[in-house]
Amino acid sequence: MGKSLNIEIKDRQFELFIKEETILNSINRISKQIHTDLHDKNPLFICVLNGAFMFASDLMKQLDFPCEIAFIRLKSYQGTASVGVIREVHGLIEDVQNRNVVILEDIIDTGHTIEYLIQSTLAKQPKSLRVATLLFKSAALQADIKADYVAMEIPNDFIVGYGLDYDGYGRNLKDIYKIKE
Ligand code: IMP
Ligand code: MG
Repeated sequence: MGKSLNIEIKDRQFELFIKEETILNSINRISKQIHTDLHDKNPLFICVLNGAFMFASDLMKQLDFPCEIAFIRLKSYQGTASVGVIREVHGLIEDVQNRNVVILEDIIDTGHTIEYLIQSTLAKQPKSLRVATLLFKSAALQADIKADYVAMEIPNDFIVGYGLDYDGYGRNLKDIYKIKE
C-alpha cells in the first residue's frame, strides 16, 4: 500500500516530509556515536514524554550494552506555537547522582525545554550529562544550549508524527509530516 502524501489533523493540512526509513537510518547513525561514547559507562537514558517515546524505543533497540531508561513528563506546548512555560507533570524517581545521563528529546525548537531539563538534571549531580534529540530546528534556537547527538536537522516548520503531535493527535504516524501553509 502506498503512503498518503497528504493528511488532515483537526483543522490543518500536513504533507509527507520524512519517511520512516530515513528516520530509522538517522537513529542508527547516532546509536553508533552513543555506543562509542557510552558502551562501558552504564548510561541512564531519560526519555522526555510524551513526544520522545517512539524515538526512545527505536534508539534503545539499537543499543547492545548495559543501560537503563527512565521517563519524565513535561508540558510546554499548545497548538503549533511554543508558549514557553514548562511544567513537570511526572518527575524522576530514579537516582541520577553519579550516573552518566543522556536526555532523549523529540525535538529542540526554541531550546527552552531542553535548557530547563539540563539545569534541573545538573542539579541532581550526574557524573556526566548528554543530550540526544531526534530533531533539531536550529533556525528557531533561542537558548544557549547544544545537543550531543542530533538525528536530523530540519527547517523551522511545524511537524507531526513519529511521537510528535498537533494538539494531542498524530503521534501514532510512522512518518513525519510537515504543516502546509
Ligand atoms: P522548545 O522548548 O521550544 O525547544 O520546544 C520543545 C518542545 O516543543 C518539544 O519537546 C515538542 O514537544 C514541542 N515542539 C516543538 N516543535 C514542534 C513541532 O514542530 N511539532 C510538534 N511539537 C513541537
Ligand atoms: Mg516534547
